[in-house]
This record gives sequence, structure tokens and C-alpha cells, in this order.
Amino acid sequence: MITNDIRYIGVQDHQIDLFEGQYTVPNGMAYNSYLILDEKIAVMDAVDGRFVQQWLDNIKGILGDKAPDYLVVHHMEPDHSAGIAAFLEAYPNATVVSSRMAFVMMKNYFGTDYADRRIIVTEGSTLELGQHCLTFVAAPMVHWPEVMVSYDSCDKVLFSADGFGKFGALDADEDWACEARRYYIGIVGKYGQPVQDLLKKAANLDISIICPLHGPVLKENLGYYIGLYDIWSSYRPESKGVLIAYTSVYGHTKKAVEFLAEELERLGCEKVSVTDLARDDMAEAVEDAFRYDRLVLATTTYNTDIFPFMKEFIHHLTERNYQNRRVGLMENGSWAPQAVKVMEKMLEGSKDLTILEPKVKIQCALSDTSRAQITALAEALCG
Ligand code: FEO
Repeated sequence: MITNDIRYIGVQDHQIDLFEGQYTVPNGMAYNSYLILDEKIAVMDAVDGRFVQQWLDNIKGILGDKAPDYLVVHHMEPDHSAGIAAFLEAYPNATVVSSRMAFVMMKNYFGTDYADRRIIVTEGSTLELGQHCLTFVAAPMVHWPEVMVSYDSCDKVLFSADGFGKFGALDADEDWACEARRYYIGIVGKYGQPVQDLLKKAANLDISIICPLHGPVLKENLGYYIGLYDIWSSYRPESKGVLIAYTSVYGHTKKAVEFLAEELERLGCEKVSVTDLARDDMAEAVEDAFRYDRLVLATTTYNTDIFPFMKEFIHHLTERNYQNRRVGLMENGSWAPQAVKVMEKMLEGSKDLTILEPKVKIQCALSDTSRAQITALAEALCG
């Protein structure tokens, strides 16, 4: 029970291997859905396709023979919308409430846009349930274009769609920020400005509870969560620290990175995090790049380009508008190192990046010259 009238009817997914076909979720995933009990009964969003029957059972478990009046659809990504058709079949008198663009997507997913049983809502539309009244707020590109969130003024609840969601099922005993940050940066990170726009609108609402579509219902200390969202969506570093992201073919670049980490620690750097892009979780590496205020990229020259995992990593950064950071570069090559040139080219469109000097050049293995360059780079990173 979330409030006297709002109940949780979501499901926990411990079978999933990759969320959205790409993110490892060792503690599973929650697809949240909520029921508002009033003179009119509203179901807030559906769930992933593999859990539709369980979700319908959850609704029935609370309502018994009563039927919901409305299905409110905030977001059409299939992890939340797959149950719409089955719900509307199970409850033939229910009306579906959503944005105009969501109905276009329903037509494409289900072959119908429910023209005879729908209410189209836009910014500021309201849905009266009795005591509870939902006000809709457009949230385009948080995380798809059709997204709306809604606010229940009676219980002061924000139904925030993907916003304030996280990886992990609700029974996962884990820190909120770690998996919420990895989720946010990975999935919504490109859309900082739309999130900022939504935060501005939300600032005008008196919110006591946030009900997201993933992760726990947030009831206390909401300023903490909203503050983190403000940092993440404005691309400000959250913590002081250096992420060293590297690839290494035979271990020489790895040795160079280990030496840099030692030098940073010797110089008293607040936090040094090292990630092997070929072996560690790519989404965690991307998350850390956005978390810290400094980044070092160390890679090998490969096929007159850079090592594939580094290429993918930099692409993840630039497509998410990586910006406003200090960056060190290290290259290795056995006969014609040119990884620095390639990395600089990949980063040239990124806003407010300071590329630090010196750029470290390693030819095959560490030498006195490259060691001295690494020490100088560590000093520049700590300066
Ligand atoms: Fe949880 Fe964008 O879907």
C-alpha cells in the first residue's frame, strides 16, 4: 500500500538477461504499475509482456469483481505498454487515457488506436476520479516523445514514468543512487534538457511521493533524488575523481594505466577508478565517466584506428552529450601510434572539454620518457 487509496500492482523480473537487450541487471528489474481506488478506479501503466497475466491477477486480487474505469498510459515503451491490449480485453468497459502520440504508437503496436474508448490528454489536462484528480504534464523525450507524467493533488503523488527509475527488482538490497545513475545515464542520459524542463515543471508541484515505473516508490528525502537528477541532467560532475578507462591487448597499456593510478594516489587525488573496457560493464564505465569530473582514455592504435571497445565507449559518451570535463589521453602503438589523434577527433564536437597536456605516447612498452609523461599527466589531473 502506498497511500490509503494507491496500491502497488507491479511485477518483479528475475528472469531477464539484458534489459532493453543491452544492460546487465544482476538484481533483475521491476515494472511498476499502480492502482488508484476512488469513485472511479484507475490503473497506472501496464507491465512487460512476460508478466501481463501476473499483473492482471494483481489487479483482480485487489478489485475482485470490480472493474477499473481507466488505464492511464504514461509511456509506450513495451516494458510498460505490452499489457494494454490484454487489459482492454479483460475490461471491455475501461477507457485508455494517454497522449496523442501514444495512441499512434498503440496503432503501430496493437493494430488499433482505441478510437472508441480513449481520452487524449495534453499538458494540463485533468482526470477526475473522485477525491483524486490527476493533472497531466508533458515530458517529451523523458525517455520517448509521447511520455507524460501525472500528479495526484489529493495524495501529492507524482507518477514519474521512467524518471527516478533504477535497475533492480524491488527485493534487491542495494544502494539507490548506484543503479539509478547507471539506469539514468544509460537510458535517459542523452536527454538532459528535456529532464531539466520536467524538473522545472515539477518544482511547481507539492510532491510527497514519487511513483516511478522502475525501482522503489520514493517517499522520504525527495530533495536528495531530485538534486541528483538535476546534477545528472545538467551534465555537471557529481563527484570529484578520475575515471581511467582503458583497453590493453598484451598488458602494456594496462601497466601504464596502473602507473598513472599510483601517481594519482601519490598526489592525493580524491578518487581513482579504473575500468577495463573489454572486461568490465560498459554501462558502469559510462556512468562513472559522467559521475566524475575527470576522465583518462588510454588505448591502443588498431587497424589505423583505435581498439574497438574504446571506440564504442567514446561513442556512448558523445551520443549522451558528454561535456564539461577535463580529459587526459594516452596512446600505445607498436610502430605508428595515432590513437590520440583518433580520440581527439571523436571528442571534437563535445562541449567544454579540456584536453590536458601532456598527451601520453607509449611505443610498445613503458619507457622512462613515457613514465615521465604519465607523471606530468597525473600532475595536470591533480592541478
Ligand atoms: Fe521503462 Fe522507457 O521504458
